[in-house]
Amino acid sequence: MVAIDESTAAGVSFALTEEQKELRALARAFAEREIRPREAECDADMRHPAELIAQAHELGLMNLHVPPEHGGVGLSAFDGLLVGEELYRGCSGIGTSITANGLGAGPVILFGSAEQKARWLPPLVEEPILCSFALSEPGAGSDVAALRTTAAREGDDYVLNGSKTFITNAGHAEWTVVFAKTDPAGGRRGISAFVVEMSSPGVTIEKHLEKMGQRATDTSAFALQNVRVPAENRLAEEGDGFKIAMATLDFTRPGTAIGAVGVAQAAYEHALEYAKERVTFDLPIAMHQAVGFMIADMATEIQASRLLGWQAAWMLDNGMGREATLYSSFAKRFAADTAMKVTTDAVQVLGGYGYIKEYPVEKLMRDAKLFQIYEGTSQIQRLVIAREIFAPRG
Ligand code: CAA
Repeated sequence: MVAIDESTAAGVSFALTEEQKELRALARAFAEREIRPREAECDADMRHPAELIAQAHELGLMNLHVPPEHGGVGLSAFDGLLVGEELYRGCSGIGTSITANGLGAGPVILFGSAEQKARWLPPLVEEPILCSFALSEPGAGSDVAALRTTAAREGDDYVLNGSKTFITNAGHAEWTVVFAKTDPAGGRRGISAFVVEMSSPGVTIEKHLEKMGQRATDTSAFALQNVRVPAENRLAEEGDGFKIAMATLDFTRPGTAIGAVGVAQAAYEHALEYAKERVTFDLPIAMHQAVGFMIADMATEIQASRLLGWQAAWMLDNGMGREATLYSSFAKRFAADTAMKVTTDAVQVLGGYGYIKEYPVEKLMRDAKLFQIYEGTSQIQRLVIAREIFAPRG
């Protein structure tokens, strides 16, 4: 596909700096050399890729947004997309395992006090440890305000009770940001956020969930039974939890969008190669309009998805936080739906070969589905977009 990073139009430039090109090349080389060769086995065995996480950590490809004053490199949201696309192009299950600390640590980076940042962030940079983000519950996914986990104040502690599910990396995390009701009657204004150490008495991993795709990523359900959490682990004020969750998702959704671009790009490349080689009716199938047009649509929509992700990240990096909500949802919605379409079409281009496990595109199609579900379904993105259009809020 034509490289877009050198293009300029109407004063907008996507020219990458030398450092950005090197960062992207590092991520691509790691994905091709280390991730790709292991994607099939991690998918088949639902294997948590601990060694690859450690290698990515060693190379500096994790925790990109931890600020320098807490030991990190403080890269921009845009830089994160350059890395993310390459890792997910290698394998989105392994890519999610490597990048999910961005979601876990997001609330601490965005809302933690100086003491909280100093306590929770440097260890992430020093060791390949994982953290996670626990918002969803068995009875509350899209409707965040309906969550039922409670946090009752007792002296200097809060006591947490409830269940969380579909939590990325929770089964291997050192700590998790848990969203719970400090005021169970208060709806979304009653939600607060806490950093919970997963080794705390009363935290039980109930299940490593078996998924259709992205099987290399641990997705777990866990219970909290009378878990005592010091009040100093509460992020911001009581009742700020809903906004912490929303603002964190604004920041991470462009990254999820670019993950979908990585998967779509991989499927496109496989379909393109096959279409050039496979001959029917005396012509490579790429020369048949039915296939050529499919490839053309794939390329166009992948490019559009990438640009939407880049725009949302650019807005976040330029302090347009709340305005970026709309653009983060544009990117997540379009890229997720594009990945589903492109991977489905890639299977179609490969025909019978596309449907069997010896070829990589059936896995990409399974992997793509999750982008339409996690970090807010495609329907929730449309809801956010419609609300921002009809009733924008500052
Ligand atoms: N930033 C800051 N504030 C925001 C905001 C944002 N992006 N979006 C909304 N708010 C504020 C609003 O301004 C409003 O403030 P006031 O009360 O002061 O007026 C308040 O929050 C409530 O907003 P809404 O009326 O829009 O709230 P709602 O209850 O109708 O829900 C929703 C909105 C968009 C549907 C929200 O519930 C949502 O995003 N749901 C999807 C949740 C989601 O993405 N879950 C994924 C979990 S993470 C994951 O999947 C990762 C994993 O590990 C698998």
